[in-house]
Amino acid sequence: MSTKQKVLQYLEQHRGESVSGQELADGLAISRTSVWKAINTLKAEGYQINAATNKGYQLSVETDLLSEEAIVPLLSVALENKRIIAYKTIDSTNLEAKRIVNEDAAFEGVVVAEEQTKGRGRLGRVFFSPSESGLYMSLVLKPFADMDNATLITTAAAVAVCQAIEQLTDKKPQIKWVNDIFLDGRKICGILTEGIMDMESGTIGTIILGIGVNFRHPEADFPEEIQHIAGTLFEAKNTELTRNQLAAEIINHFYSLYGNLASRSYLDEYRKRCFILGQQVSFQERKETFQAQAVAIDDNGGLVVAMPNGEEKTITFGEISV
Ligand code: BTN
Repeated sequence: MSTKQKVLQYLEQHRGESVSGQELADGLAISRTSVWKAINTLKAEGYQINAATNKGYQLSVETDLLSEEAIVPLLSVALENKRIIAYKTIDSTNLEAKRIVNEDAAFEGVVVAEEQTKGRGRLGRVFFSPSESGLYMSLVLKPFADMDNATLITTAAAVAVCQAIEQLTDKKPQIKWVNDIFLDGRKICGILTEGIMDMESGTIGTIILGIGVNFRHPEADFPEEIQHIAGTLFEAKNTELTRNQLAAEIINHFYSLYGNLASRSYLDEYRKRCFILGQQVSFQERKETFQAQAVAIDDNGGLVVAMPNGEEKTITFGEISV
C-alpha cells in the first residue's frame, strides 16, 4: 500500500474526526513531510480535507469518493486473493472487468466506478450512469457455472442489494423479476450478469455481475425516456451514508449468500420481496406479447406464470412489464 493509500485509509476510518499530523505520522510510521504530501495529493484528487492549526486534518463527511481504502475496512467477508479496483470514470465496469479477466484469467474481485460513459443495461440497452449520483460495480466470480447457476447468482444479487439497503437505511426495497430493485414504485437499481466461456472446459469460467444503483438524484435529472420509471435511493446529497458503505455492504451480503447458493435458501426472501407475484404481467416471446398472471418463483429463480387458458409456464429469460 502506498503512503497516500495508507493516509486515505486512516482518514476514511476517522471520517468527520480531526486527526493530527503527528498521529498520522506515528500511526502509519511515516514522516510528517510524507503525511503533508499525501494530504496534498488527496486534495488534488477531490477529497475535501479540512486542516486546522493544532487540530490536524479532517476528512469531511461531505466527501463521497469511491476507493479501495474506504471499502476494504468495511468488509466482513474475507477477501483472500480478491481485489477491489476503483475508478473515477470508466466506459463500463462490466467491460473493464472483462478486459482485466482477458489479461489475467485468474482475476477475482470487484471493479467499482463513480461514472460510466458506456454503462450497459440488459437486453442491449444503455444504463444511465452519471458521476456523483450513482454506484456502479462489477463482481468478478469464478463459479464454473452453467447458465442455470447464473440465474441463481443474479437473483441472489438482487436479494443482497435489498438486504444491504435495508441494513443501512430505513427503506424497504422490493424486486421486480428478475433483478430490478424498486423503491416506492421506481427502479433504483439494475443488474446485468454476463458470462465468459472457458474454452477448454466448455463451461462459464467467469461471471461478471454488474450492479448499478441510482444513489442520489442526478443533478441534470434522468433522461426523459426513463423519467417515469427511474428513482433514487436518496433525493439529494446526504451525509449519512456513502457509496463506499453501500458498496461494502452489497459485497458483504452477496458473498454471504453466494457461499451457500446451492441451498437456494435465499429464494424465500426473494419471493417475499418480489412484488409482481399475484399480478397481471406481460412478456414477449419470439416477438409476440403475452399476458399472464405471475404466480410463483421456482427453485431456479424462474418466473412461473398462469396463461389465460390456465396453463402454467416458466419464464427463465427476458423481461416482464406490469
Ligand atoms: C439493467 O437494469 O438493464 C441492468 C443495468 C446494469 C448496470 C450495471 S452498472 C455496473 C455494471 N456495468 C455496466 O455497464 N452495467 C452494469
